[in-house]
Amino acid sequence: TDRTALGPLVGAIDQGTSSSRFLVFNAKTAELLSHHQVEISQKFPKEGWVEQDPKEILNSVFECVEKTCEKLKQLNINISNIKAIGVTNQRETTVVWDKTTGEPLYNAIVWLDLRTQSTVERLLKKIPGKNKAFSKFKTGLPLSTYFSAVKLRWLLDNVEEIKKAVGDGRAMFGTIDSWLIWSLTGGKNGGIHCTDVTNASRTMLFNIHSLEWDPELCQFFEIPMEILPKVRSSSEIYGLMKICPSLKSGALTGVPISGCLGDQSAALVGQMCFQDGQAKNTYGTGCFLLCNTGQKSVFSEHGLITTIAYKLGRDKPVCYALEGSVAIAGAVVRWLRDNLGIAKSSQEVEKLAAEVGTSYGVYFVPAFSGLYAPYWEPSARGIICGLTQFTNKKHIAFAALEAVCFQTREILDAMNKDCGIPLSQLQVDGGMTNNKILMQLQADILCIPVVKPSMPETTALGAAMAAGAAEGVGVWSLNPGDWTAVTSERFEPQLNPEESEFRYARWKKAVLKSMGWETA
Ligand code: G3P
Repeated sequence: TDRTALGPLVGAIDQGTSSSRFLVFNAKTAELLSHHQVEISQKFPKEGWVEQDPKEILNSVFECVEKTCEKLKQLNINISNIKAIGVTNQRETTVVWDKTTGEPLYNAIVWLDLRTQSTVERLLKKIPGKNKAFSKFKTGLPLSTYFSAVKLRWLLDNVEEIKKAVGDGRAMFGTIDSWLIWSLTGGKNGGIHCTDVTNASRTMLFNIHSLEWDPELCQFFEIPMEILPKVRSSSEIYGLMKICPSLKSGALTGVPISGCLGDQSAALVGQMCFQDGQAKNTYGTGCFLLCNTGQKSVFSEHGLITTIAYKLGRDKPVCYALEGSVAIAGAVVRWLRDNLGIAKSSQEVEKLAAEVGTSYGVYFVPAFSGLYAPYWEPSARGIICGLTQFTNKKHIAFAALEAVCFQTREILDAMNKDCGIPLSQLQVDGGMTNNKILMQLQADILCIPVVKPSMPETTALGAAMAAGAAEGVGVWSLNPGDWTAVTSERFEPQLNPEESEFRYARWKKAVLKSMGWETA
């Protein structure tokens, strides 16, 4: 095909926990034309702490943009056709920076980080009845180490530089989306300090009904409201890309950044789950099952959270989702690779598991960051049980993959109870869905079919869709019917349901053993 004749293109920055990517789509066909990915390092300075360098994150994004543009040029594609850029990101991860220097004042505290366990305990004492769900109807969330407010509280309590910068009026808070958009639109020279409703809904400071920062919650967490970003919809022009010295080619200067969604919301959009009751499960560092509940916010009775799915335009309605969050999915494979060294790559872990095809009674609960949904138990820690002299690394690899499937089963069960109508199949995406053993195992453990879309880059596509549809960009629209998901692979359950139930019951027993291990 004549690549020079391609029409408008849309780019997406996908900044995840494990890596950053930049992807470019053809706006006529939504075909992925090119992309580049860079792994992000994680720091574990103390037990339970997880940090990342905000500068490294930003530079990795620059590198991805630069390399993708080079690849496009090699394909004879004119990069000046990129008409809009969407941003999607790991959620909750908290950054505070100095707006006068543009420098971060501390490492980013990653969503998985557990240092705030004692902050949570202390805050709980302030709440009558120590009720973790005290702000459920305002924020949709339980009080947990997971959300940004407690991380920000920790930073304000423990980092002198930050206290000082707040006092001097120099501090800005943001999740990764805010940090990136501010930096890309000029940083200390007039960068735009904003976030979108989906990311704001993960801070525990945001009222998901009024769509505003909540003064009472800010008071409860003692957060100065002037350091918070302005909250915008998920699809509108926030600002234009500025010339960045790090972007040698100056390639995207002047292109509007016009889409912003937390990665799980973006995947919901990219999977075309626009109807009430449609759900997707994304397997990344963690694993997140979101079910669209339309313009109605549904509150879970079974340990799920209520979050903002999207608001695709200033004048468009807000849609909500019920979410089951699992902290550790891909991260357990990375742990087997990096910490135990049982394999050199994630693919090798899959191979080891495939060689045995069973865990031989080994159960692995990777509660490295406590347990999230449906338990919300920060005191849980990882365990491997059921070991015998027969057990080898292949069984442990298999048990690790099976753990991802069991955790998904737990949140699917909760979702089915909350929604009343059981899901008849599960739409999946994310890096781990390339693992066929995992997907078959998932179908076997859920006892329903698992389906993969033909376009696997759903998170990035969701952000690109929002960016391309923004008012003033308009390279495409998001009218119902304009976008339909096409299935590429389908995994039918093959295990007999009794065997599946037996294994699931064993898993639950193992989960009980992991709880209460570590108290604050
Ligand atoms: O809430 C955390 C989530 O947004 C991280 O996603 O894909 O990096 O596991 P991921």
